[in-house]
Amino acid sequence: MRILGIESSCDETAASVVEGDRALSDVVASQIPIHRPYGGVVPELASRNHLVKIVPVVEEALTRAGVGLGELDGIAATAGPGLVGSLVVGLQFAKTIAAARGLPFVGVNHLTGHLLAARLEDGGVPRPEFPYMALLASGGHTGIYHVEDASRVTCLGETRDDAAGEAFDKVSKLLGLGYPGGPIIDRLAATEGPAEEFPSALRRRTSFEFSFSGIKTAVAQHVARLGRKPDEGEIAAIARGFQRAVVEILVRKVVLAARQKQVPRVVLSGGVAANIGLRRHAIEVCGENDLELFAPPTNRCTDNGAMIAYAGLLALSRGERSPLDLAPRAAWPL
Ligand code: KG4
Ligand code: ZN
Repeated sequence: MRILGIESSCDETAASVVEGDRALSDVVASQIPIHRPYGGVVPELASRNHLVKIVPVVEEALTRAGVGLGELDGIAATAGPGLVGSLVVGLQFAKTIAAARGLPFVGVNHLTGHLLAARLEDGGVPRPEFPYMALLASGGHTGIYHVEDASRVTCLGETRDDAAGEAFDKVSKLLGLGYPGGPIIDRLAATEGPAEEFPSALRRRTSFEFSFSGIKTAVAQHVARLGRKPDEGEIAAIARGFQRAVVEILVRKVVLAARQKQVPRVVLSGGVAANIGLRRHAIEVCGENDLELFAPPTNRCTDNGAMIAYAGLLALSRGERSPLDLAPRAAWPL
């Protein structure tokens, strides 16, 4: 089966052709430079730029895959959760091709895409079997998911407030470091030196919920107490301490969940899974707990079309179809 997948839920216009478990192409047009001056995604600008990019991105995905529309077995697009004005662009485009070509169509949950990304072929790197315990940490979502197979996913706990990626972005903005904050803080945190101590909320053993707004406030208060702009050394110490606290709680909870549900493997997913410190700490803690650890390559952690095409391919091969009047959903919990 060969599927075209389209992703436009936030600030990346992406398209990919996937055949079986292999991406034949994976094209991403990032809008990061457009949103950077505002320190976050501006929904109006995102929507408008999806409109500009959708045709060239889909054309390039087909060209790179060497596949014409007539050689597709179906089309998938992200239907939610996300920014409605952004979602509608990719979703409507996909439905239009499906209608014009008489192709099967399915709307994909963005979170399902992230959760299955680690199962895509990647140059022979080992991939996780089902079941697995997944940490999904992105700019919009953070939670622990028990993935029994592609269609049986249970959320064990989510963040009560900010997503982990959102916390990275907000702390980065607070420190005057730029957008998106994750990769910048990750780079600073990898440098040698002292680390500030920040508390992480909800460390209780029994809960798989997260909370990141407290640590963001703690960083803001720390900076306010200084009474001036922190210098380079102080900024690095804050970045190290903040990243350490966030990474520690993310890994602690997914490992606890795997042990509690007796699932032998852990998967990292979502944009924050690109974090080098998170990957290192997860390797260490999973090793200590006899858990296998899997993380997709970093370009499959952040938003991409291949994960949507792949989730769509699995859904279509199970016989799932979405109606052509499917509407985008801002919220769509798993
Ligand atoms: O999955 P994603 O591309 O989009 C959403 O679905 O939200 O995630 C984007 C988020 C941003 O908040 C960004 O700061 C964060 O992922 N991120 C990182 C890293 N790379 C991206 N966070 C921490 N460390 C990174 N290396
Ligand atoms: Zn995402």
